[in-house]
This record gives sequence, C-alpha cells and structure tokens, in this order.
Amino acid sequence: MMAIQHTLQLTPEEQAMLRGEDGIAVQRAIEIVVALARIYGARRLVPIASVQVAGVSYKNLGQAGLDFLHEWAEQGARVCVPTTLNPAGTDTERWQALGIDPAFARQQQAVIEAYTAMGISPTCTCTPYLVGNVPQCGEHVAWAESSAVSFVNSVLGAYTNREGGPSALAAAITGRTAAYGLHLDELRMACYRVDVHCPVESVSDWGALGYEVGRQVQTGVPYFFLHDSRCSVPNPAALNSDPMVDRLKALGAALAASGAVALFHVHQVTPEARQVQRLRSDALHIRINDLQAGYLALDTGPREIDLVSIGCPHASTREVALVAEAVSGRRLKAALWLTTARGTRESMHTEVGAIEAAGGKVIADTCLVVAPMEQLGFRTLATNSAKMATYAPTHSGVQVRFGTLAQCVDAALSGQWPDRTQA
Ligand code: F3S
Repeated sequence: MMAIQHTLQLTPEEQAMLRGEDGIAVQRAIEIVVALARIYGARRLVPIASVQVAGVSYKNLGQAGLDFLHEWAEQGARVCVPTTLNPAGTDTERWQALGIDPAFARQQQAVIEAYTAMGISPTCTCTPYLVGNVPQCGEHVAWAESSAVSFVNSVLGAYTNREGGPSALAAAITGRTAAYGLHLDELRMACYRVDVHCPVESVSDWGALGYEVGRQVQTGVPYFFLHDSRCSVPNPAALNSDPMVDRLKALGAALAASGAVALFHVHQVTPEARQVQRLRSDALHIRINDLQAGYLALDTGPREIDLVSIGCPHASTREVALVAEAVSGRRLKAALWLTTARGTRESMHTEVGAIEAAGGKVIADTCLVVAPMEQLGFRTLATNSAKMATYAPTHSGVQVRFGTLAQCVDAALSGQWPDRTQA
C-alpha cells in the first residue's frame, strides 16, 4: 500500500520565518516546528495561545542543556505568546534549608535566568493553570509536562500534543505548532470505554484508578463512566478551590505516568464529554470493579517513613489548606514536604505558618522527582500521589507507601505508615 504524502502548507509569514527574515533564533525555532510537522504528516501549522515549557531542572538538563539555552537566548530567542515554566531542581529561594548543594543551586539559577531572558515567566510549577495560565476551551496551545498536558486537554478542553522541552520552546518563539494528533478533532475521540463499578473518592483513589487504566491503555484516549461515584462539573473559574479539580488532576497525572495518556474524557464531567459524543463506536471495553490493582502496585514500601510528599502535581490552595488544618498545633515526627507554586505559597501565610510550625516545609518551584533527592538521605517516602509513587523509586531512590491524605498526615505525625483501616 502506498503511503499518502500530505503537503505542508505554510503561510507567507511562516515562510518568511523559515527564510530567516525574523532572525536566526526564530529561523532555528520554525525549523524545529516544521520538521515535526513533516514527521507527523501535518498539513499546516496552527497559531497557539500559550506554552508550558519543561526541561528546567539542572538535574535533567546538565551543562549541555544550559549551554544550548544560553546559545539560543544569545541569538535573540524571545517568546511571542504567554509562556510558563515547569518545576526546577530546587526552591530558588530556600535551597539552603533543603540541604541543596550550592553549586547545583547556582547552575539551577542560571537555567532559570536563561529562560527568563527569553521572556518566559519563571512560574516553576507543573500546575500553571492554578496560577494564571488558563487556556480557554477549544484554544490551541503547546504544553509540555505530562500531567499539565493531560489536565489542559481533558479538564479545560484546550488542544495540545504532549510537547517535549525543545519543541515547546520552539512553539513559544514562533507562536505556532504543527497541526497533528490532538490538535485534530477526529483524534480526540476515545478508543477505550472504561466502566468503573466502585466508589472513587479520595485523590489517591483517583490516582489508583488512573494508574491502572493508564497501564492498560498506554497512549490511547479513555472515556470513563463512573457508575458508583458522585462527580461534579469542574468550575474553570475556581480551579484552586474545587475538590473535583484536585481529583481530575490526580487522575490525569496517574494516567500519564503509568501510560502516556494525554487526553481523557469523563462522561458528563469533562467539557468534550458534555458537548459532543467523543466515544468511538468501536472502542475497546475495560471494566474496573475495584481499585486494588493500583494500590497494590504502588504501596510497596516498609512501615517506617522518613519523608511525606504532598503536592504532585503541585498543590492547589484547597490542598494546602487541608494539610494545614490536619497538622495545625501538632508536631511532626517525619519530614513533610508540601510542594506548590510560589504564588500559592505566598498567598497562604496563615496555612504555611501552621504547617511549618508543626515541622513541615511548604516548598515552591520544585518537586521530589526533579530535585537531587538522592543526596538528601531519605530512604522511605509516603505520598497520596500515584504519579509520585510511580516515579520516586527510580528518580529519587526511595521506597514508597501510597495512600490517602489522612494516611500521609498520620505517617508524618507518627513516622509510621498506618493501616488503611485506621485512616
Ligand atoms: Fe509536578 Fe513533579 Fe509531580 S513536576 S506532576 S510535582 S513529579
């Protein structure tokens, strides 16, 4: 069978960029966008409304990555659409209190300065939608960071592929991305129907569900029917305080961690599952009767807990408030790191004060997966995030317990992982 070759049509403006008329930095960026368009058979490029750039931690980027950014910035690379930044390898202000090596902190700062020189907002968060980068339903964007991609596609109804670091940056410099994959309506149809016949309540339940379904569907688009759970339609104007948003953020992060899911639909909940029929008639069927498989796969560590991690993806103001309420006036035995966006941290003095008075840390700009945790001596970790539980053993060299927020708070207070029935 002969492969069909689609011709890529570029606008006069895009052709001028390719000829170098907007400078070498733009030419380099459009060459990346066009190369991807050709690889994926796109017929055109599409203008984008915003970008989320990943590849920020010096732990992953190294000196070669930093040199690459410096060179592009020195050639005059500047973003032309609102662009936010993923977490870095450390809290940029309180790295000393975390025990981060000064040389690492310096290199990390240089990475952030290189991005800032290009006009990127140094938000350093994986939940940019909680601090102002909130695309409209139906808008095209170019986002990196798997959990943010999953959220913005599924919960906000914007259109993005799962961009890599360089491709997201190239999109930000040109204001364009290649129109293929999830930028096309027909590829946003679900190819799996997932019927869930058990209650899905806590954030960790949603994560356990996402972990198991992601493992089964890999890159597919699942369409969930939650037969035994009370779900509400998320409110895009109140993303920080809506419990449904926290649940869907956990679901999307887990789907993207155990599989590579970039879009999911929840019947009568997510925008495209309310407006149009997004389920293919030949969809494969998955039935979930309980959440045990996800919990059993992720909850494997010993009883003693060194460190408790909350805020993966970065915590909403509601999640910070819940932790503050649970530990207020008490004293923690294990370390507790609550990771969130700097803007969130700075807006919650009372809650942050309560958590830190108990001995916890509210940390901005980073997370335990991208920070150099191996150097900090933690051996066991407890979390309510299925994504963190998936990545921490390999990225941070720790053994993991996975459960509800109540279990995690209990573990922070006692230094021991409680039985699930006690939580
Ligand atoms: Fe965010 Fe780090 Fe989790 S980038 S999604 S807190 S692994």
